[in-house]
Amino acid sequence: MTSFRAFLAVTAPLSSLTTASFPTRPNSLPQNRLCKFGVNCRYAEAGIKDDSRSPTIDVVADVKSEKVVVLGGSGFVGSAICKAAVSKGIEVISLSRSGRPTYPGSWVNQVNWISGDVFYANWDEILVGATAVVSTLGGFGSEEQMKRINGEANVTAVNATKDFGIPKFILISVHDYNLPSFLLSSGYFTGKRKAESEVLSKYPNSGVVLRPGIIYGKRRVDGFELPLDLVGEPLERILSATENFTKPLSSLPAFDLLLAPPVSVDDVAYAVINAVKDDDFFGIFTIEQIKEAAAKVKA
Ligand SMILES: NC(=O)c1ccc[n+]([C@@H]2O[C@H](COP(=O)([O-])OP(=O)(O)OC[C@H]3O[C@@H](n4cnc5c(N)ncnc54)[C@H](OP(=O)(O)O)[C@@H]3O)[C@@H](O)[C@H]2O)c1
Repeated sequence: MTSFRAFLAVTAPLSSLTTASFPTRPNSLPQNRLCKFGVNCRYAEAGIKDDSRSPTIDVVADVKSEKVVVLGGSGFVGSAICKAAVSKGIEVISLSRSGRPTYPGSWVNQVNWISGDVFYANWDEILVGATAVVSTLGGFGSEEQMKRINGEANVTAVNATKDFGIPKFILISVHDYNLPSFLLSSGYFTGKRKAESEVLSKYPNSGVVLRPGIIYGKRRVDGFELPLDLVGEPLERILSATENFTKPLSSLPAFDLLLAPPVSVDDVAYAVINAVKDDDFFGIFTIEQIKEAAAKVKA
């Protein structure tokens, strides 16, 4: 019963929310993201003595220094985001109750792992100097638990982030499946809707809501790796290849359940990196748009 409910929860739509919007550029760059510095260079050619009368070159460069807080960085999606961020030279802090994961990895050593519950977090310690917050908080359980972790936990985080003056909030939500509205009343979806609304209202010009379908990759459970990609990857290829033929069917109630392609955890992670780096990237993003955004930064 629980798993059936969970399945329905993963697949129900969020149709009452604002539809996908491609953004316009926000008014200005947040102050703490841009750091200007000047470099004064002196050179000496081979065989020419540097007698300190050599000409100097003044260079002024714009350098973005990013610092991302990943809420749930120890989880399946969160750890992929931390890893991708580290690979792009972004400073990363993770907050989760379990803190640092036990598996090894050079990227693991480069993340600042903070143990704590989002409801009782010391935000002064976590958010200082951050340029963006990414939330992967969400999950299944009883109705109350799902409302709490998918909804209230994210609302708490959005408000703390906004109050602290952090310029960007990125939420991992879920695909808007075309299911009948009576299936939408689960705590999972009411929670997700609440969280999305909070992000979009508090961050109208920079908030990002990613709506992936089923996410595949290597999920770690109790020290073991579940290779969800063995099924997810070929399924994604087949569904993406046949999308032109099957698209009209997606509008029929419940058909989207079968037809929405899964998305790799790395694509979700790189779409987040794109969101962190690109100030023109905000609003709600579909599965297709997540893949496009990921492709921009993956190379
Ligand atoms: N996996 C999918 O196929 C899929 C598909 C669509 C959307 N999504 C969404 O993507 C998000 C991430 O999913 P996931 O599969 O990566 O979930 P996950 O593996 O369960 O990760 C959730 C993370 O949140 C942390 N967390 C939970 N409660 C917390 C609290 N009170 N305070 C601080 N941290 C807390 C967990 O760590 P601790 O337990 O140690 O605190 C964990 O690091 C979720 O919002 C999910 O709804 C997932």
